[in-house]
Amino acid sequence: MIRFKIFGAGSIGNHLAHAARCLGWEVVVCDLDPAAIRRMRAEIYPARYGEWDEAIELHLVQDAPRGEFDIIAVGTPPDSHLPVALEAMRESPRAILVEKPLCPPDLNGVQELVDLARANRVSVFTGYDHAVGKAAGVVEQVIRSNRLGTIQTLDVEFREHWGGIFAAHPWLSGPADSYLGYWRRGGGASGEHSHAVHLWQFFAHAAGAGRVMEVQATLDYIKDGKVNYDQICLMQLRTENGLMGRVVQDVVTRPARKWARIQGDLGFVEWQCGNPAGEDVVRVGVGDALEEQIFEKDRPDDFIQELQHLEQVLGAGSSAVSPLSLERGLEAMEVIAAAHESQDKGIRVRVGDFHG
Ligand SMILES: NC(=O)c1ccc[n+]([C@@H]2O[C@H](COP(=O)([O-])OP(=O)(O)OC[C@H]3O[C@@H](n4cnc5c(N)ncnc54)[C@H](O)[C@@H]3O)[C@@H](O)[C@H]2O)c1
Repeated sequence: MIRFKIFGAGSIGNHLAHAARCLGWEVVVCDLDPAAIRRMRAEIYPARYGEWDEAIELHLVQDAPRGEFDIIAVGTPPDSHLPVALEAMRESPRAILVEKPLCPPDLNGVQELVDLARANRVSVFTGYDHAVGKAAGVVEQVIRSNRLGTIQTLDVEFREHWGGIFAAHPWLSGPADSYLGYWRRGGGASGEHSHAVHLWQFFAHAAGAGRVMEVQATLDYIKDGKVNYDQICLMQLRTENGLMGRVVQDVVTRPARKWARIQGDLGFVEWQCGNPAGEDVVRVGVGDALEEQIFEKDRPDDFIQELQHLEQVLGAGSSAVSPLSLERGLEAMEVIAAAHESQDKGIRVRVGDFHG
């Protein structure tokens, strides 16, 4: 039986608690804010999943049990991810799952987490659940099978108006009320939809293209004296082995488009998420043949699969091969940090190396 502690009783805290209960895990959720704890029990959880689950323990952070957990999840706003993850490390769990994005683009403190994870042999994961969905797994297999020939280019888009996020947070009146309205705190399109840059790198690694080395970006910032966030983030990327392609993340497109396309010299594979709702689609075209696979799923399935992935990786004893590994989460943040620098300086930026 896995003992699971979640920091943050907000939207992701509810998703992860429900997914863990579906897998029969013991769940403790803690938050700094008593209002968030009340909301989880009385509103969010029953509204999403039918009824409150009495087996879930809810505590203020200072009252929560410590030191007895297999996995600790950090489901708090991005600018608290690293301090909370470092605190969680003191509880000596087997693994820590840090929500996406791993941290704000300044990357302050990330090396300490990398070093402590290594020294304490704690597996650290980042919450890019789309990469461990069934459809993305099929795309990865197609790329690795060499059916597409040499991979020539790769595009990923996560373009989604963030009205849906605010609908899930009715207590917020808009981006100014949370980290979402501040790119330096991990919000804006670059942070919120960083699933896209993470998936780009996941597919690039499957193609043997190596890490992203160069970023040229154009961002459209909204600043009104209070908020300061990018509503559109366009990135052109090149890897160490020369693969080039694009990532587009925005918080303005509706209906949403979450999509990837990998083009080889023999064919292509395309991934489409949640369009129509409840379906992920994979299309493979080689020569004149076109295959389509549909994966029915709902949002809870995404998180159940994510936690099942953690169980499998921990069972196998290493997170080194996981697409959710700390290294992959950090690679995504390095690219986003480089994108802001590229826009700021009007130059193509080489991605830094924080791997120690
Ligand atoms: N993987 C996904 O698809 C997905 C989905 C939703 C959210 N997220 C990520 O999860 C994170 C949280 O987003 P959310 O929508 O749940 O936010 P939220 O505002 O709904 O909830 C965050 C909660 O964390 C609490 N909190 C803040 N600091 C804390 C601390 N030090 N200790 C304990 N609790 C603390 C807040 O009081 C709040 O209740 C973000 O990084 C977001 O990007 C990921």
